[in-house]
Amino acid sequence: PPLHTLISSNDFEAIASRTLAAKTWAFYSSAATDLISYKANIHAFDRIWWRPRILRNVRDVNTKTQILGCEAAVPFFVAPAAIAKLVHEEGEKAIARACGRRGVVQCISTNASFPVAEIVPTAPPFYPFFFQLYVNKDRESSARLLRSFAMLPTRPIRAIFVTVDAPVPGKREADERVRADESLSTPMSGVQAKNDAKGGGLGRTMAGYIDATLSWEDLEWLKEVTDLPIVLKGVMCAADAMMAVEYGVQGIVLSNHGGRNLDTSPPAIHTLLELHLNCPHIFDSLEVLLDGGIRRGTDILKALCLGATAVGIGRPFLYALNYGQEGVEHYIDIMKDELEVAMRLVGITDLAQCHPGLMITFEIDHL
Ligand code: FNR
Repeated sequence: PPLHTLISSNDFEAIASRTLAAKTWAFYSSAATDLISYKANIHAFDRIWWRPRILRNVRDVNTKTQILGCEAAVPFFVAPAAIAKLVHEEGEKAIARACGRRGVVQCISTNASFPVAEIVPTAPPFYPFFFQLYVNKDRESSARLLRSFAMLPTRPIRAIFVTVDAPVPGKREADERVRADESLSTPMSGVQAKNDAKGGGLGRTMAGYIDATLSWEDLEWLKEVTDLPIVLKGVMCAADAMMAVEYGVQGIVLSNHGGRNLDTSPPAIHTLLELHLNCPHIFDSLEVLLDGGIRRGTDILKALCLGATAVGIGRPFLYALNYGQEGVEHYIDIMKDELEVAMRLVGITDLAQCHPGLMITFEIDHL
């Protein structure tokens, strides 16, 4: 169907499910074992009701914000996702072009289809990006990668998101069931897909280089090899959020990896509520971001009302890339529009006016 007939995250997903190659759809859409966390991520937002305010002159609304010090037109960013080239030959480069035109920040995965130096020039000069790091068992290779960012003339990488919820990948059965094309490899991590007795899981075979020994103390090493802000991606409880403060990182992403790793790990919006109950001051010490299951403007706004600065969106961007750069631009416009409508109907005109009092959370408070 023509791009202009698509009007929601769900439309892009439905068309992707019908048109992507079997392996691509299996890899992108898959989640761990029984998909409990995957589905809960999406439905958790439905259990929070608004308490909208009326008569507040909501004609002009402003969705601009700052994410880790970077100007952003909207409070959502592209969550890091492996090998965007599976859906479109321009992969992450097309996403970067679209983001550059729309004012959206993209977080580039260690498992991207192109090196950072090839992705960033497709956006305007000095455009900001984040980089997601999987720490390699060969620490020196991770250090080299991080140091290489400092050599890029415009210093486009503004923060390092270290993924901490995936020392090993989860068991993603849809991905295992479809054989991998073994010619597939990713330039930054240097790994290759393969098929074996467990199946053809791209997520699993490409994760073989990740260092499962990584621990809190290693953050010192990381601070030596990069002076960029460090963000821990994959925090799932208040205790670890508090440790993140202790270890002096600049941000955390509450995430269960889109339900792809530990099934029955909590949706990030639950973890966000847990922070409110157990460590409400944490929001003054570091930036709290969130991802998983964001499909609607109201989802974004709910996370912001609970103190998140911004949210990451994963799969929908890959499904939008099915239509190339234009698809990604159209998708950003849809989400921005949904967000603006939600702001107006809730009764706010600026993201700074987001606060928990705009919502009724008792359906998930007791969890
Ligand atoms: C991911 N995710 C991910 N995370 C990460 O830190 N490094 C990575 O390389 C990848 N790769 C990846 C590939 C694919 C196909 C998906 C769907 C996801 C997780 C991603 O950053 C994010 O946490 C989730 O995708 C968020 O959930 P939604 O928005 O997809 O529901």
